[in-house]
Amino acid sequence: MALWQPPWGREPNSRSSRHKRTHGNATKLHRLMESPTEIRTERLLLRPPTEADAPAVFERYAQDAEVARYMSWKPHQSMDDTYAFLRRTISENAAGSSRGYLIFANDTGALLGSIGGAIECHRMHFGYLLARDAWNKGFATEAATHFVQAALDDPAISRVQSFCYVENRASAHVLEKAGLTLEGTLRHYLTLPNLGSEPRDVFFYAKVRR
Ligand SMILES: CC(C)(COP(=O)(O)OP(=O)(O)OC[C@H]1O[C@@H](n2cnc3c(N)ncnc32)[C@H](O)[C@@H]1OP(=O)(O)O)[C@@H](O)C(=O)NCCC(=O)NCCS
Repeated sequence: MALWQPPWGREPNSRSSRHKRTHGNATKLHRLMESPTEIRTERLLLRPPTEADAPAVFERYAQDAEVARYMSWKPHQSMDDTYAFLRRTISENAAGSSRGYLIFANDTGALLGSIGGAIECHRMHFGYLLARDAWNKGFATEAATHFVQAALDDPAISRVQSFCYVENRASAHVLEKAGLTLEGTLRHYLTLPNLGSEPRDVFFYAKVRR
């Protein structure tokens, strides 16, 4: 996958671009009105990125192989990779096909990580990551809980889903604590570029609006 693949990735073999081409202007107009707005939680600010965030994103996590280990992209080699990634996120946010956020600490303003989702029809597929010094403080759970709630508050989205590599126990915990239900294990579902070419099993989670 390309280096600028959003950190939350898309489902393999995503048809979103075809969906965008074959659906009318009504969908596009709706999505334009649904561009992401800030989300505040007790300890966090989630806001869409700008290109000015590139140096912090690169320094804090994009070049970190440990953070990228289970992600769909390789660690960024230079700031150019990070600028390209952010430009793509900004463009997809503006088009309404994604909701991509950076996560900041309310108290210090420090960049902590990223969370975002790709929208296909009534579904949002999302993912997240944190800089290493922000792990194990409940930040991912807090960000994911509010992000999922905001997505399901949109009448156009009735299903929010995510998957994680079966060995990524921390991520599985986050999805469970954010209220998603394990729907199954998809065997040999995807390859992870930082773990070789062997297809990997994933846990698939979702939450739906009833
Ligand atoms: C996955 C990730 C976002 C979790 O962030 P976090 O803020 O540390 O998560 P939280 O603190 O909200 O919750 C983590 C939970 O997993 C548990 N956990 C952490 N590391 C673990 C491990 N190695 N094995 C099992 N459980 C683990 C924690 O104890 C916690 O559960 P608890 O609250 O029941 O004790 C973070 O580790 C990360 O950015 N990893 C790299 C990127 C990544 O893998 N993203 C997800 C791709 S699917």
